Amino acid sequence: MDNFTFFNPTRIEFGTGKEQLIGQVLTEYGVKKILFCYGSDRIKRDGLFAIVTNSLNEHGVQFVECSGIVSNPVISKVREAITMAREHQVNAVLSVGGGSVLDSAKAIAAGALYQGDVWDLFSGKGSINAALPVFAILTLAATGSEMNNGAVVTNEETREKFSIGSVHTFPKVSIVNPVLMQTVPRDYLVYSAADIIAHSIEGYFTASVQPKFHSRMAEAIINTVIETTETLLKNPMDYDARAEFAWASTQALNGLIYAGTAGFSYPNHMIEHSLSALFDVPHGAGLSVIIPAWMKWYHDRNPEQFERFAHYVFGVDTPAQSIAALERWFDKIGTPTRLSQLGITEADLPATIENVLGNAKWFGIAEIYQRDVVTTILQNAL
Ligand code: NZQ
Ligand code: ZN
Repeated sequence: MDNFTFFNPTRIEFGTGKEQLIGQVLTEYGVKKILFCYGSDRIKRDGLFAIVTNSLNEHGVQFVECSGIVSNPVISKVREAITMAREHQVNAVLSVGGGSVLDSAKAIAAGALYQGDVWDLFSGKGSINAALPVFAILTLAATGSEMNNGAVVTNEETREKFSIGSVHTFPKVSIVNPVLMQTVPRDYLVYSAADIIAHSIEGYFTASVQPKFHSRMAEAIINTVIETTETLLKNPMDYDARAEFAWASTQALNGLIYAGTAGFSYPNHMIEHSLSALFDVPHGAGLSVIIPAWMKWYHDRNPEQFERFAHYVFGVDTPAQSIAALERWFDKIGTPTRLSQLGITEADLPATIENVLGNAKWFGIAEIYQRDVVTTILQNAL
């Protein structure tokens, strides 16, 4: 096992009814006025907005609404929200929604205390030295954003989907109530399953130091996601399945399964972020297309780990059988496995390849993922 520092300062409040604590939690942290970020008015229709605002009012926490944050969030909206945060002098940012709202909240929190344009923090021109405290009520489990410091945002002008991450951008407190996730549409449930599996396998297959314990944790997450997704497709109201799915999701990207590993990379995310940036496809849908295509190109580079995966995840013998089994499972649950299902054709490949090559240097793997490799993987996905 490699040496490591594991630091995760996010407090998780997990379980039914926990969203009612939001006013009390903010008061504990001395927050008096928040920017209340959310996406569509779904939260007004399903009653969550009323629960949150009642709790805020009860505890004398003022709020300024910032609605309309879209899936695959965009930097123009983050800029607009930073202006609001400054004008209203809020002293914290609250996210109510999935990863897109929460990632935006983190970018807003960092951008509000940065002198230049917030995109500088994504492009490497500036660095995050401070951020407003971020709080979250999670309504969709997939990204792990509720317990990590990452935020991914698209610059619509340059078509770049880049990320930030800093010790200042961990949420202070994230409220995770599986009941709030019972309304997640079927398509986003299966995209989320693909995303959680992606977070578990990126290190699992690419790390040069990957202890068995860490492989077992990743397999536990993947097996849990496979089992609970199937249960939830049959019964979206199954609380225990929803709870296990949500907690597995948090564990996949809160740093735990990576602490003690080394030399890993995120090639599937690197490629997928280009699909989201160029074609606005849901993150998990892009991943379920890229993962089998990447595995077909990659598996010879780490055959022992692919044999493990074959055995412990799908109960089959060979890497090729396990790749086929994963692809079949994605097909079965209804998340795409072909670029054509995302409306992406061969004619789109040149622009996609350029975009991926632009990402490769940020992901630190430009040497491996050169034009010919990226082309092969994308062609595998056609
Ligand atoms: O606008 P609302 O109503 O919130 O609609 C959302 C959105 O349309 C809806 N939704 C959320 N909770 C719901 C619900 N609908 C009904 N009932 C509920 N309870 O679902 C749609 C998708 O939400 P979104 O937040 O976009 O999904 P997700 O959580 O998968 O976030 C995706 C974004 O996170 C980034 C992705 O790239 C993508 O931009 N990622 C962030 C990471 C991180 N911060 O660590 C890592 C990931 O790998 C990923 O890159
Ligand atoms: Zn992801």
